[in-house]
Amino acid sequence: MIDCKVFADKAAASVWAASQICDMIRDNPTANLGVATGSSPADVYAEIARQVHADSIDVTRLRAFALDEYLGLDTTHPQSYHYFIDEHVTKQIGLAPQNVRVPFAEGHSTGDVIDDYDAEIADAGGIDLQILGIGSNGHIAFNEPGTPFDSVTHVEPLTQSTRADNRRFFDHTAEVPILSVTQGIGTIMNARRIILLAFGENKAEAVRDSVRGPVTEDVPASVLQNHPNVVFALDEAAASLL
Ligand code: F6R
Repeated sequence: MIDCKVFADKAAASVWAASQICDMIRDNPTANLGVATGSSPADVYAEIARQVHADSIDVTRLRAFALDEYLGLDTTHPQSYHYFIDEHVTKQIGLAPQNVRVPFAEGHSTGDVIDDYDAEIADAGGIDLQILGIGSNGHIAFNEPGTPFDSVTHVEPLTQSTRADNRRFFDHTAEVPILSVTQGIGTIMNARRIILLAFGENKAEAVRDSVRGPVTEDVPASVLQNHPNVVFALDEAAASLL
């Protein structure tokens, strides 16, 4: 059973999630944090930065591993996840750039396995706390419906629904990438603790299907029912169908 915490709004959920992360860093300054991109976690990173600076939390040895990246965008493109992580995580929180990793797989094609990234995470000691968002189709990272639960980091095509959801970040539909490199579902499930953030009514069906529905590869986030330490931090709209 997935533990769901319902907050009055995104701001309250973001403060709660940031406090959980800051507590972890205080306990273990060499922790490995798994970081998502997109609109759901942006306020969490801003609040972590606020608490880190206000309370002088030592982040010099904190390491961060991103979930995914588009293929076909330059890493300096403002919508690339390298750029997002650099701005919202590395610079804002004040991490050492060499302690922050984002997957990269230029030149690879659909289905290619990127073993190095999983090995790098494992060599670092594994992810202590993973932040996730969720797609309106139930995807986690860019693992679209049908992705095997035992998948590792690989190249994944984006579905039409994900490209439509992410169209808002680009000027034209044609600019939305068609391929991604993403941690696999197996990679994500290796994290010791997971906090999934979901806000707004367009996430309500995916949240309901993940929490209450059958565990099925058709709804990637439903795999989290099998994880021993996961919390969904929701606003009332995202929790409205539970
Ligand atoms: C991004 C990622 C994706 C997003 C999801 C929701 O690193 O892993 O799974 O979390 O597409 O995106 P937002 O938060 O923009 O609604």
